[in-house]
Amino acid sequence: MAILERSIDLTSESVRQDPFPAYEKVRRHGPVYVDPTSGKKYFGRYAEVREILTDADTFSSKVSGVERTFMGADEDLASVRIKAIRAMVRAALSTKKVGALEGFISSAADHAVRSALCQPVFECRSALSAVVPAGAIGMMFGIEGDNTERFMRWTEAVLLLGRKARRANPTQPGLGLLTRLRTMRRTLMPTRMEANLSECIAFMREHFTQRKSQYVDAWVAESMLTYAEANELDAEGMIDIALGFMVAAAESTTSLVTSSVLILARKPELQEYIRTGDHATTLFVDEVLRYESPVQRRQRAVRSDCEVSGVPMKRGEIVTLLIGSANRDLEVFAHADRFDHERNPNPHLAFGMGPRSCPGSQLGRLEVCAVLKALVQQAKRLELARPSEPLRYPSYISLRGPRELYVQSAAE
Ligand code: HEM
Repeated sequence: MAILERSIDLTSESVRQDPFPAYEKVRRHGPVYVDPTSGKKYFGRYAEVREILTDADTFSSKVSGVERTFMGADEDLASVRIKAIRAMVRAALSTKKVGALEGFISSAADHAVRSALCQPVFECRSALSAVVPAGAIGMMFGIEGDNTERFMRWTEAVLLLGRKARRANPTQPGLGLLTRLRTMRRTLMPTRMEANLSECIAFMREHFTQRKSQYVDAWVAESMLTYAEANELDAEGMIDIALGFMVAAAESTTSLVTSSVLILARKPELQEYIRTGDHATTLFVDEVLRYESPVQRRQRAVRSDCEVSGVPMKRGEIVTLLIGSANRDLEVFAHADRFDHERNPNPHLAFGMGPRSCPGSQLGRLEVCAVLKALVQQAKRLELARPSEPLRYPSYISLRGPRELYVQSAAE
């Protein structure tokens, strides 16, 4: 029998730091938890989250997927364009394209780890976790040099813009980032955020209009350009796609590396385990994806009246899927709150599921495995440099991963 919880606050600071006790209450509550104040529906069990993610015909991702992130405001053109953009993104991240990157990723990982380990103590997120994703994004777009610092700043600013825009207008779908930025200017926007966004947009505009010749090896930029030419997409549309892509590719991969390093630093025996080879690294990374899912929640808009596990939903309703909670569901994962580095099978939903699932999952996995392998090979023994300091988690409730993590390689 469902135990009735009076109220579960899924937006509080404590949930941001540690959402798992609240998730447990949501799952115990039943297939859905309806927030009594906002009326919002939250799904926290694996079965319903999986079913809704998979059913892209009934549940649209226009509130939080490509539609929301990548598109301009033209609703009529939206669905046609989105299909084409999705196809373009998926083709750009195909197995063949990603496979060809293996050498580049592993040497970028070796180099990043070597630089980080030159410091007696390093801040993992900025000195290591963000470096390889930034290198990969640079390569995809044909942007040369070390862009880690500016991609981190720009990503942070784009995420903040998304959060502020959602707060200002929670139900408005279909706004591209640039359109949102223009609308937001009238309201209060922190100066630093605006400066970072302006810098990012100016750079992308120049990059995508002036430097076409260098796209020869930059396969995502090349695909975008081909798409733009065939579909009369202007530079603004290209920038929208590029910004969405940058955030999707950078943020979750960076968080996944940082969460992995945290677990390794706390459990030195797992460093030994990863040293045993590729299979061990893959199992470990999948368990981090399940246990500390970088994307904790996604939203869907209901396209037509429907019912899931007896829960009725009306067309136009917005529902929240707690991916991080589904990945801790005891119905599917034995000892779900325990980190089991050998868990196999591990059918987690950290990349989503079905037609809207993450097209970058293969590349993300490749990057994270390369960094962890290089790390355990080069570091004698990793440990936390400030073990008593509390960890800080992101201010975006849908994301997870320590914002700062100080690590050192212990002398034997
Ligand atoms: C490794 C860590 C990563 C995780 C955990 C992750 C997770 C996710 C999740 C949960 C979604 C939403 C799925 C949905 O709404 O059903 C998503 C979408 C997306 N991801 Fe990833 N992702 C990762 C890495 C990447 C990388 C490396 C790229 C690009 C190179 C990427 C590109 C995208 C794009 C473009 C979308 C939007 C897809 C769409 O709406 O059709 N992701 N990702």
